[in-house]
Amino acid sequence: MNISNDVPSAIIRAAVMEHADAQPVLRLNGISKSFGENHVLRDVSLTVHKGETVCLLGPSGCGKSTLLRCVNWLEVPDAGTVHVSSQRMGVREGSSIKMSDAELARSRARIGMVFQHFALWPHLTVLQNVMEAPLHVLGRPREEVREEARRLLERVGLAGKMDAFPSRLSGGQKQRVGIARALAMKPDILLFDEPTSALDPMLVGEVLNVMRSLAQEGATMVIVTHEMEFARQVASRVVFMDAGEVIESAPPERFFSAPQTPRARQFLARFRSPREALGDWSGAPMPA
Ligand SMILES: Nc1ncnc2c1ncn2[C@@H]1O[C@H](COP(=O)(O)OP(=O)(O)OP(=O)(O)O)[C@@H](O)[C@H]1O
Ligand SMILES: [Mg+2]
Repeated sequence: MNISNDVPSAIIRAAVMEHADAQPVLRLNGISKSFGENHVLRDVSLTVHKGETVCLLGPSGCGKSTLLRCVNWLEVPDAGTVHVSSQRMGVREGSSIKMSDAELARSRARIGMVFQHFALWPHLTVLQNVMEAPLHVLGRPREEVREEARRLLERVGLAGKMDAFPSRLSGGQKQRVGIARALAMKPDILLFDEPTSALDPMLVGEVLNVMRSLAQEGATMVIVTHEMEFARQVASRVVFMDAGEVIESAPPERFFSAPQTPRARQFLARFRSPREALGDWSGAPMPA
């Protein structure tokens, strides 16, 4: 599926303008994390405002997944703070006391995660998968949750699959259930870790299209991806990491056309087709 020319860049730019005075939803301040001698994150600070779509790019092993895992405290940072919607993650505000498991679960409920592997419950239908967390984590009424889950599944194009079991779905369909499941918790922010990298190339576009429409509807998202064309079109900001550090943070048009550092230029060179290497990202045919 070709997503190249569908999004008028004016829409994206208008959205970026709106972010200028929007609320911070995610604030990472001075995050460091080591595994033994391996310093995976070095003093990473990053603020994501309401309605922003931040695409987090960087070479394999540079710490992107670890950074997302620090946001929801699946990894505990060695240093630094994480705030989601002004609430401190992992540690009780104003103290150094660790949150209890119940407090942590409540904090995590504000963060939607979509992983490379979908991890749906195999014994539950698509609809039940989407209903599971709002019912059992938030304790919300079943009928209300069912209605919302139906609407979410319609929104991700799966109205016809509500009663199917995950084993009957394609990878792209499973991933769209994963997105609906994350949305069902009404999170303040959605974190995506390479949501399309395990998919057959034919199925990537249907998942990216759902993510693109979420961006246009104003969802706040951090997306780790190697889909450069998607990042160029949909990101309100690109954050480039290398060796555990944030190296660049820029609007996509600037990052892709004029990366400021040799490391970013080197990274981008690996993705560029001959046409793109000439600086033409428009999707127009290459001159003869
Ligand atoms: N639980 C862990 N224990 C030990 N080392 C880890 C752990 N998780 C990650 N690492 C190491 O941290 C470094 C960064 O890994 P991470 O998965 O964050 O990179 P990444 O940028 O997401 O890479 P990729 O693009 O390949 O997914 C790697 O050297 C990895 O081996
Ligand atoms: Mg990763």
